[in-house]
Amino acid sequence: MKKRLATPGPTFVPTDILLAGAKESIHHRSNDMKTIMEGINQSLPQFFGSKNEVYTMLSSGTGAMESAVFNCFNKGDKVLVINNGYFGKRFKDIASRASLEVLSIDIEWGEPFELDQIKEIYFSNKDLQGILVVYSETSTGAVNDIKEIGDFFRQTNVLTVVDAISGLISHEMQMDEWGLDVVIASSHKGFMMPPGLSFVCISNKAWGKISYTEENTYYFSYKRFKDFYPAPPSSPGVSLIFSLEKSIEILKSEGIANIHSRHQLLATATQNALTSLGFKLFISDSFRRSNTITSALAPRGVDTSVLLNSINEDFGLTITGGQGKYKGIMIRIGHIGAFDELDLFSVFGAIEMCLSKNNYEFQEGASTKALINTFKKEKTNA
Ligand SMILES: Cc1ncc(COP(=O)(O)O)c(C=O)c1O
Repeated sequence: MKKRLATPGPTFVPTDILLAGAKESIHHRSNDMKTIMEGINQSLPQFFGSKNEVYTMLSSGTGAMESAVFNCFNKGDKVLVINNGYFGKRFKDIASRASLEVLSIDIEWGEPFELDQIKEIYFSNKDLQGILVVYSETSTGAVNDIKEIGDFFRQTNVLTVVDAISGLISHEMQMDEWGLDVVIASSHKGFMMPPGLSFVCISNKAWGKISYTEENTYYFSYKRFKDFYPAPPSSPGVSLIFSLEKSIEILKSEGIANIHSRHQLLATATQNALTSLGFKLFISDSFRRSNTITSALAPRGVDTSVLLNSINEDFGLTITGGQGKYKGIMIRIGHIGAFDELDLFSVFGAIEMCLSKNNYEFQEGASTKALINTFKKEKTNA
């Protein structure tokens, strides 16, 4: 059976990217590799909206989160974590594991932080060293206003560390302009690649602190990445690097502004199709909804675990359900990477077929209509 993904990562990998990775390996200290890395290093900063170097690491996203915490802070440093979802909580856990003093703003999943809360904590903790926040919170489908945070802390000693693992490429990112200090991302999201690579972009302000931080990590040491640049400090995933080169070529040919608007359109279409079937969007404020993933609560009586299992068994399509207390009642549709308009028709075709098979009540064909109307409206406005 053909396998399909409507998940927020791993995502569908285009054939050209897969084939690029299938080439024979080369030595990572060869001139050929140096040329490839120079090209990659030259291109990556534009996706971060930065003039700073971007380091490519061999790890999944969590490795990059860990690298940021261990490179930027010493044991006992005080940091603030915005915890309004599964990955905000992960930042909190990593910071605790690094023996930092962790303050957190713990908010209901999906709810926004108030800048006043952050200001209050900062003014009563002048020794605060950093703030850790997730851009697009994959567990809830909400985006956090990282621009507001960067702007506030820009003139302070506090480093703004952003997990943009699922937010980069599908959303605008202007790291330098927004005053962000460490931004991390990962290959199996907007880059349309298999998992395995992560990326980190570091501001001059962050370097000012990192230079004086104890070396708490060797493999992920940013100082080593800087020393070896443009080459990686250890053996890179050579085949993933080949794939990354192709991914960058594809992204550049579409153009970053077009990529953002495509993701935004797919998100709007998904929202409209879900509501047409009686689902309730989890994030009520449309400006806070992610372009990467749309989450919604199922109509009364619909068990999303049953529905999603049936979609997977019947059509080989993976859609994610809710995490934590939202298991069984939430659906999360990923529309990041090489996803396009027609992909959404198969996703909603499968959802409707399985709603019907499981005798759930809904209006047949409503989602197709909602998709068509959304895409038609977009074409008229274009
Ligand atoms: C926002 C966010 N942060 C962190 C991670 C963790 O990344 P990984 O599973 O690649 O370690 C993910 C992965 O889904 C994510 O979406």
